[in-house]
Amino acid sequence: MSYEAEYRRSLTDPEGFWREKAEALPWFSFPKTILDQDENGVWRWFHGGRLNTAWLALDRHVAEGRGDQTALIYDSPVTGQIRRYSYAELTERVARVAGGLSALGVGKGDRVVIYMPMVPEAAVAMLACARLGAIHSVVFGGFAAPELATRIDDARPKVILTASCGIEFTNVIPYKPLLDGAIERAAHTPDHVVLLQREQSQADLGASGYLDWHEWEAAATPAGWVEVDATDPLYILYTSGTTGKPKGVLRDNGGHAVALHYSMKAIYDVDCGDVFWAASDVGWVVGHSYIVYGPLLRGCTSVLFEGKPVRTPDAGAYWRVIEEHKVRSFFVAPTAFRAIKKEDPECALKAAYDISSLKYQFVAGERLDPPTYHWLEDNLQIPVIDHWWQTETGWSICANMAGVELMATKPGSPTLPVPGYDLRVLDEAGRELGPNQEGAVVLKEPLPPGSLPTIWEDHERFRKAYFSQYPGFYFSGDEGFRDEDGYVYVMGRMDDVINVAGHRLSTGQMEEVLAEHPAIAECAVVGIEDADKGQIPLGLLLLKDGANVDPEDLQRELVQMVREAVGPFAAFKRAVVVKRLPKTRSGKILRQIIRKMIDGKPYVTPSTIDDPAIIPEIGDILRAEGVMT
Ligand code: COA
Ligand code: AMP
Repeated sequence: MSYEAEYRRSLTDPEGFWREKAEALPWFSFPKTILDQDENGVWRWFHGGRLNTAWLALDRHVAEGRGDQTALIYDSPVTGQIRRYSYAELTERVARVAGGLSALGVGKGDRVVIYMPMVPEAAVAMLACARLGAIHSVVFGGFAAPELATRIDDARPKVILTASCGIEFTNVIPYKPLLDGAIERAAHTPDHVVLLQREQSQADLGASGYLDWHEWEAAATPAGWVEVDATDPLYILYTSGTTGKPKGVLRDNGGHAVALHYSMKAIYDVDCGDVFWAASDVGWVVGHSYIVYGPLLRGCTSVLFEGKPVRTPDAGAYWRVIEEHKVRSFFVAPTAFRAIKKEDPECALKAAYDISSLKYQFVAGERLDPPTYHWLEDNLQIPVIDHWWQTETGWSICANMAGVELMATKPGSPTLPVPGYDLRVLDEAGRELGPNQEGAVVLKEPLPPGSLPTIWEDHERFRKAYFSQYPGFYFSGDEGFRDEDGYVYVMGRMDDVINVAGHRLSTGQMEEVLAEHPAIAECAVVGIEDADKGQIPLGLLLLKDGANVDPEDLQRELVQMVREAVGPFAAFKRAVVVKRLPKTRSGKILRQIIRKMIDGKPYVTPSTIDDPAIIPEIGDILRAEGVMT
């Protein structure tokens, strides 16, 4: 099958195409309809289909004779452990934890927040929720208490599952104080909290009423799976939007299972028994789709890595894992390779390992800059595949489909649209642009299976955020272009979302934090280019009249405020006092222009600007401060 034929068919006969992909999975009841619209006019896949995602990912492999095959490898250089779970063992553990949740009153449709580091129990917790038809909401361990509180209030979980600590390099980070702080702030109180004690730092459960995970799991009676509808929700995953309030991306069961199962072979070229590794975190969509669900749905062995590209113990960590577990396809954010390249520019540490099992290197999460692409290609001598996707879609929008037909790669491009995605580039007036003309990257409805059908309890925001700009098209928020061969280039966000070391953050969220400082009258946060992290946030501050503060003290206080309100991974380190902020006459701050000016990119000053002189004025201040040259 050629890529062209596969892609064409997905657009000309979407129902036939996805029926066939759905038939590759054993459903309890096959869908009655493949594609139709729900009461909100949203396109939905596989109405009437009955399944259980955890059963498909675990029990059915055991039933098909793969019980002894390794399902999950926990490789943790930060604790010095490697543990392997067979499909039979993982099924047994998931059933037991599901039983524990059920005993705490969790049933179909109830929410469970999972605030855990990269330990196997995090994956077990997700699958246990899926087994019960409960909806999990995993919150990345790097988020500070206020962000966790926002997510607790939005999802209103019956139970929160957590651990005593996370480990960042050699830093042990206790989670209980963060969770206690979040619960104290939140209006909603969970019925129960279950905490996994880790030996690196035991939490004092005292009078908290928190349950000890090990005792709770040991006492549980394994639970059976619950049949759900294809359109029933599997999980909520919060992601940054343009405002301070995160968007609860909802994922359903049926479309998700079909899309991920298809993607494992079609995109990553792995199948039953192959070892797949996504070095991300379960708190992000990559972790949901390609540490937990995708590999297990396909019967692969998935690696869950609790470590870093460098200093755990060195910049050869990835090569060690690939050799040790015979990884076939590896997926990580480009920022991780920039970190390796910085410490080991010649990639000399690779020579100590036999990484001949590795057939493909996949990257995503941020733009793959051409120097990193070339470094990878030169050093690995295998296809280096950039692919573009978002939390909202749950799997790739553009990729070089290794399992269908490997196309020529072009540096800086995630290649071509994946089947199911009808991608267009539009100008501001909604006109389709020609080759090499940059505009908004949009996707014509219907989106393929796996993509979000709504935002949790906020359908109006879903409609406004994604479908109000260009009716009939999903607005990705990214700008880019297609070249004369149709290759897609994704250049960056058009909105106020930034990408720091592969982590998606809202500048609006950071502005809300800065604005709390008593000396600040107004502020803007922009994401500027950074050689290591891709982008980093920069704060531009207008002080209140008469505010008498030392700029260095102010910056220190603001950095601390962002760490405590958002989390350290936001990497907010720099804030500069300016005299004025560029705005439109209606008062909208022109953040994109400031960003482009700092990055040395061309920008057009809009006719609606209040005073065009403000832009060069800010340029002078930033040059004097050494922020730009
Ligand atoms: N829990 C608590 N703190 C966390 C955290 C977590 N899960 N993840 C990051 N942090 C903290 C770090 O400890 C660091 O804190 P510090 O300022 O006190 O040192 C801060 O957040 C910044 O972290 P990070 O951006 O990870 O930078 P780093 O210098 O610690 O590490 C890399 C650099 C390249 C190793 C790291 O960014 C990395 O592994 N990136 C891969 C990104 C990724 O997997 N993205 C997923 C999307 S595909
Ligand atoms: P997230 O939802 O956290 O996965 O972040 C999605 C955003 O990351 C996208 O909207 C892009 O801005 C960016 N992104 C992800 N993958 C790529 C890629 N391969 N190339 C360019 N940008 C990417």
